[in-house]
Amino acid sequence: MAKLPEISFKTLATPDTGTAVVFVDKSLELSGVAGALNDASSGAIDRAIKAADFKGDLAKSLSILAPANLDLDRIIVIGLGDDDLAEKDYVRLGGCVMGSLGNAKLASVALEANGSDMPADACSQIAMGAKLRAYDFDLYKTEKGEPKEVKDAVVLTLLAAHADEAATAWEIDEAIADGTLLARDLVNEPANVLGPEEFAAKARALEAVGAEVEILGQAELEAIGMRALLGVAQGSVREPKVAIMKWMGGADSEAPVVFVGKGVVFDTGGISIKPAGGMQDMKGDMGGAACVTGLMHALCARKAKVNAIGIIGLVENMPDGNAQRPGDIVTSMSGQTIEIINTDAEGRLVLADLLHYSKEEFKPRFMIDLATLTGAVLVALGNQHAGIFSNSDALCDQLSEAGEVTSETVWRLPLGKAYDKLIDSKFADMKNSGGRMAGSITAAQFLKRFVGDVDWVHIDVAGTAMDSPKTDISKGWASGYGVRLLDRLVKDNYEA
Ligand code: BES
Ligand code: MN
Ligand code: ZN
Repeated sequence: MAKLPEISFKTLATPDTGTAVVFVDKSLELSGVAGALNDASSGAIDRAIKAADFKGDLAKSLSILAPANLDLDRIIVIGLGDDDLAEKDYVRLGGCVMGSLGNAKLASVALEANGSDMPADACSQIAMGAKLRAYDFDLYKTEKGEPKEVKDAVVLTLLAAHADEAATAWEIDEAIADGTLLARDLVNEPANVLGPEEFAAKARALEAVGAEVEILGQAELEAIGMRALLGVAQGSVREPKVAIMKWMGGADSEAPVVFVGKGVVFDTGGISIKPAGGMQDMKGDMGGAACVTGLMHALCARKAKVNAIGIIGLVENMPDGNAQRPGDIVTSMSGQTIEIINTDAEGRLVLADLLHYSKEEFKPRFMIDLATLTGAVLVALGNQHAGIFSNSDALCDQLSEAGEVTSETVWRLPLGKAYDKLIDSKFADMKNSGGRMAGSITAAQFLKRFVGDVDWVHIDVAGTAMDSPKTDISKGWASGYGVRLLDRLVKDNYEA
């Protein structure tokens, strides 16, 4: 199993062993540590820049192996571009550092930009990007049937002018990075390993970082009447669970912010079964719940000054002799009745009960739900933006801002009466599918019927949480999308 880097901060100096990483902007001026290494190697960096036609563009890199006159294995030069750098750029640069290390066992990174010190926050953001990029889910790869040897982690020393300050910032950012990696692990795990019970145990494990955790099983869910959620689970031999994770880091009197996650550990579609092609991806249909769990880890581990609750509905959607049928009518916890048109529109049934429960039980400041809810959001937005739907302009603006800062971006789509009408049912209060048109919107309209007048945002992460492309900070598939976005929303707007 590949190990994550061992990251530490030390006072800025010129590295003399292993791999040295330096940054240059588009001026290609070599000063500070880069200048010193260039001089000591009789201009090797300068010559390599010219030979490779390296332009210093943001996150582009150049490798110089075995530079003359130095004991270094290699020097890596990474471009800073020519714009002012923002948080997301530093995170990306950190990813680029990790991605350029190759087989290096020992690497030192000079955290300066053309000879001037990088701010402590930026140093920590580079560490975050490096850790996110290093993550690889290779748990199930063997060497000829034997567990792979655990490889030594790269020892990554970040050389900063204000190393102590940077290390302090990293204590916070590492909590957020770890939350993101937890979300990735949960999404990557196959459904035979991570069922509702096993996922609930992962939620329970947040007690180690100070969360208060409660797990509701079949009997409790029946007793409180979560029949919409239970209807989804009834085709599975695995018992549904609802996990509630609380972090009360704010004032006693303060209402909590609540995050709600769809945790369908596998979505076959049920009786309205999905086609075989690509169905394996539906192990990621708990991406919303994974994000909520990762976020709660981050908030707990960094001791956020906020009262926050994460609640996730863990079920498996299977076809079975006992499975729910199209035409069935279920009574949700809210009392509203739902005609099942398509058993594959199951996520909204799970969320309906969780949203109602959260509204009544927690009297929240706001509720944000995350769900891999519709294929239609992929058609609309691809994997660039998550779709958001809301009854609160203010909350949407805050979320959009957090999206820009973290580059976990969102795009708002409309709600409205005409869309709401599409889910009226002849036989019940509503139906669980509004048909092909505006599929992501009608799904959101369905959820809206369960939120009352609480400020609420629904984030459809079907395009962003799973089956994600490779980037500078991710090797792909499970992205951990949403953890950094929501942590930032909380930090900028809801912490004391
Ligand atoms: N889990 C799926 C949505 C999904 C699709 C997530 C692709 C990730 C990638 C969801 O439960 C679903 O099946 N939605 C249906 C709704 C339809 C039956 C109204 C869909 O999108 O087709
Ligand atoms: Mn489905
Ligand atoms: Zn689903």
